[in-house]
Amino acid sequence: MTALRSPPEYPASAAPAHVERLARPEPLVKASSLAFLRFEKADLDRAQRFWADFGLLTVSRTDQELVMRCAGSSPAVLVAQRASRARYAGAAFVVPSDTDFERLRRESGAEPLDGALIPGGGRGVSLRDPDGNEVWLIAGWGSVDPLPLRAAQHMRTNSLGHTVRVNATVRSPIEPAMIGRLGHVVLQTPVFHAMTQWYMRHLGVIPTDVQYLDDGSPLLAFCRLDRGATPADHHTVVIVGGLESRYEHSAWEVPDLDALGQGQQVMRANGHRHLWGIGRHLLGSQLFDYWKDADGFEFEHYADGDVFTADHETRYVPFSTGSIWAWGDDAPAGMFPRPSIAMMRRAWRLVRTGRLTWSRLRLLGRAMKAPARPWL
Ligand SMILES: [Fe+2]
Repeated sequence: MTALRSPPEYPASAAPAHVERLARPEPLVKASSLAFLRFEKADLDRAQRFWADFGLLTVSRTDQELVMRCAGSSPAVLVAQRASRARYAGAAFVVPSDTDFERLRRESGAEPLDGALIPGGGRGVSLRDPDGNEVWLIAGWGSVDPLPLRAAQHMRTNSLGHTVRVNATVRSPIEPAMIGRLGHVVLQTPVFHAMTQWYMRHLGVIPTDVQYLDDGSPLLAFCRLDRGATPADHHTVVIVGGLESRYEHSAWEVPDLDALGQGQQVMRANGHRHLWGIGRHLLGSQLFDYWKDADGFEFEHYADGDVFTADHETRYVPFSTGSIWAWGDDAPAGMFPRPSIAMMRRAWRLVRTGRLTWSRLRLLGRAMKAPARPWL
């Protein structure tokens, strides 16, 4: 049983000496929420069917554009434009109304956004992160009336020694998982330091958990929004060091475990590709279930995540593939990079342009190759 153990989680002030702490730049802006994600899709009908079965609701649909919402008060959580090929286009965040957009224009190359492009209205700017992903910052965003969500089952869950449900049954409705809100987006990048610094500077995010390689260099940062004394999700933006710039997945909050489970039934019945779950994450603690759309983009349902106030100290955790989840099925091999000619070419290019070293590549390879659950 020695292989079954949770990794240590060190507060920054007590992390081993060789662990490199992430510097925290002074933020230009403190975003208050993740508003919506933007995609480009060649087949809007197919995309709409997937997202509807996943639990999103159509706000508007034309030949060129699809806007979707969830049960929460956001006017939109996803916007898809028709294009020749599928692509993740970027994320939009809500920022305070006194945000200095002029300074962002001067110092960070922000460009004004055409208000007509913002579903729900408002004004804002468009920035590009170091990988070229578009990041929209929006002030004065509108809201809509939230839709009723069923009560979470755990309010009436019978647990050992604690009986609250008597003469009553559990009958969760057979329907798509009702999504309450957009939770987080995960981005892979070959320029981990530049990306984490940029997101801390331009969104004010705080690293909640940072995972590091054997040499103590950070590889993965789970970052939360700085909402002061108001609790924020364990992570809203996750930056993962890797060999590619790409969207890894986004995650969408549902009421409870039964919504994950019934949602899975509906997705399976409609022929969608299941990826991973149900399980519980370790860092962030969410119950999760992962899906792949027809273009290979990953979408996660989750429930019961951790929240932290701004004063919670950053934790440093050694990276291993097994540390991604606490229990559940083994993560599918496809979730981790596999050696290939294309990957070696990519690595060579990164080394040649000074964005990667051979020693870091070796450490990364070793970490990815170590079996997560050797007995499975
Ligand atoms: Fe996630």
